[in-house]
Amino acid sequence: MKRIEKVSNNPEETFQMGKELALKINSPVLIGLSGELGSGKTVFAKGFASGLEVKELITSPTFLGISESFSGRLPFIHMDFYKKVVTKDMIQFYMDKKSVVLIEWFENFVDVFKEELDLDMRMYIQYLKDTGGNIIDNMRQIQIEFPANGKAFNQQIF
Ligand SMILES: Nc1ncnc2c1ncn2[C@@H]1O[C@H](COP(=O)(O)OP(=O)(O)OP(=O)(O)O)[C@@H](O)[C@H]1O
Ligand SMILES: [Mg+2]
Repeated sequence: MKRIEKVSNNPEETFQMGKELALKINSPVLIGLSGELGSGKTVFAKGFASGLEVKELITSPTFLGISESFSGRLPFIHMDFYKKVVTKDMIQFYMDKKSVVLIEWFENFVDVFKEELDLDMRMYIQYLKDTGGNIIDNMRQIQIEFPANGKAFNQQIF
C-alpha cells in the first residue's frame, strides 16, 4: 500500500487537491472518502469533479444517495453512504460503464454488508487540533491510501 499525507489550510486547497487528483485519472476507479461531518468530503468531491471536467453543479448527494454526471471526461458517480448504503452489484454496474465512482462515508459499507469494499483509493479527512485539543479553524489533515491490489497503485499522484 502507498500513502500520501497532506495538510489543507482552507477549502480552496482541499478543492485543488481533489482537482489535481482527478486530472491524473484517465480510467475507471473506485474511491472512498471518509471523514467526520463537515470535514470537507464534498469540497474535495467538487474539486475532483472539476478535474474530470464535469459541467453539472456538484452538491452533497446525501438525500438522494447517488448522483450521476455524464458531462465530464469520464462518467462521474458521486455516492453518499451516510444514510443509504448500496450493494456491490450497484457499484459494479457503474464500474462496468467505465465510471469514476466516489463514495462519501464508504466505511458504512462494512457495517451493513460485513465485507470490505475493493477500493482503488481511500481518502481520510480529519480536523487538525492544537496541543490543547481544540480544532484549528480551516485546517484539515488529508490522507490518501492506494491499496497494492487497486487500480491506482502505480499512478504517480501529487
Ligand atoms: N481545509 C478545509 N477543507 C475543506 N473544507 C473546509 C476546510 N476548512 C473549512 N472548510 C469548510 O468545511 C465545510 C466542509 O463541508 P463539506 O460539505 O465538504 O463536508 P462533508 O465532509 O462533505 O460533510 P458531510 O459529512 O455532512 O457530507 C465547508 O463549509 C468548508 O467551507
Ligand atoms: Mg458531504
